[in-house]
Amino acid sequence: MPSRFLSSDIAPFLRLALAEGWICGKWEMEFLLQAFPQGCFVKRTGNKTLGYISTLRHDKSGWIGNLLVSSEARRGGIGSELMQAALQALLEAGVETVWLTASAKGVELYRKLGFIPIDSINRWVGEGRGGSGWSPSPPCDWEVIRLVDKAGWGDHRDALLDVAISRGQVMCGNYSFVCIQHWQQGTQLGPWGAIIEGQAASLLDPALAASARHVFLDVPSGNLAAAALLTRKGFSIKGSNTLMYLGARPKYAPQKVFALASMGSMG
Ligand SMILES: CC(C)(COP(=O)(O)OP(=O)(O)OC[C@H]1O[C@@H](n2cnc3c(N)ncnc32)[C@H](O)[C@@H]1OP(=O)(O)O)[C@@H](O)C(=O)NCCC(=O)NCCS
Repeated sequence: MPSRFLSSDIAPFLRLALAEGWICGKWEMEFLLQAFPQGCFVKRTGNKTLGYISTLRHDKSGWIGNLLVSSEARRGGIGSELMQAALQALLEAGVETVWLTASAKGVELYRKLGFIPIDSINRWVGEGRGGSGWSPSPPCDWEVIRLVDKAGWGDHRDALLDVAISRGQVMCGNYSFVCIQHWQQGTQLGPWGAIIEGQAASLLDPALAASARHVFLDVPSGNLAAAALLTRKGFSIKGSNTLMYLGARPKYAPQKVFALASMGSMG
């Protein structure tokens, strides 16, 4: 049986995750353990911790992330066991749809559990202007941000938006917003949402002006306008994951999602 993910598990998890090449941080795990502790698990055998998983409950949907099993313990059923525990926690909390992004190693495991592919998520990388410019944007209206995000994902995701926006800088336009989040590895753009394409485009230049030299963002391949916009700025795709869901088909509108809020871990 998996055990609860404790704050003392964060440091060993991060060591494993960074070795896997993931972009993740202590603040994110602390947030997840505080927001939905009953959905975060580890697998312990004797005094060894061999696997990790986190979940976040939005409103009618939930997100599973950070599934990671030590390389020496793989193909022994630990990943499946952690997934069952995470799914049960989300279902008990009443969610109707469960989301995740799957790496090539994870896709088969999720397919076996009934997850259905709905899109691909591409990691785009490019250059910012080194944080040398910052142009003030119109003041942001929290209700508009909530509305635009819900138009893309079909659900209210208040806790996720709140944590992303409070650690980053947010710029808003007409029914559009982008959050600029700084990491050790560079700057992440996201969440980035807009009701129509032109409204998203006008946020990109000011966002890049406020970004470090290395910029990355996770973008649904269903958003063709985002791809065109990023290509024009010299960005390119450096990897891809599969966006999958289980349960009720979500009201997902990728043309309104220009970038995810997290680097795959919570939505
Ligand atoms: C993906 C991962 C979590 C799987 O954990 P695990 O404990 O090995 O998974 P399980 O033993 O429960 O595997 C269940 C099934 O999933 C599939 N599967 C697991 N790993 C796979 C792989 N590398 N390639 C193809 N299928 C795989 C198989 O169908 C497997 O059943 P089988 O062993 O009977 O053939 C683990 O490989 C890992 O930590 N990888 C690196 C991080 C990562 O990619 N995490 C997923 C993020 S989405």
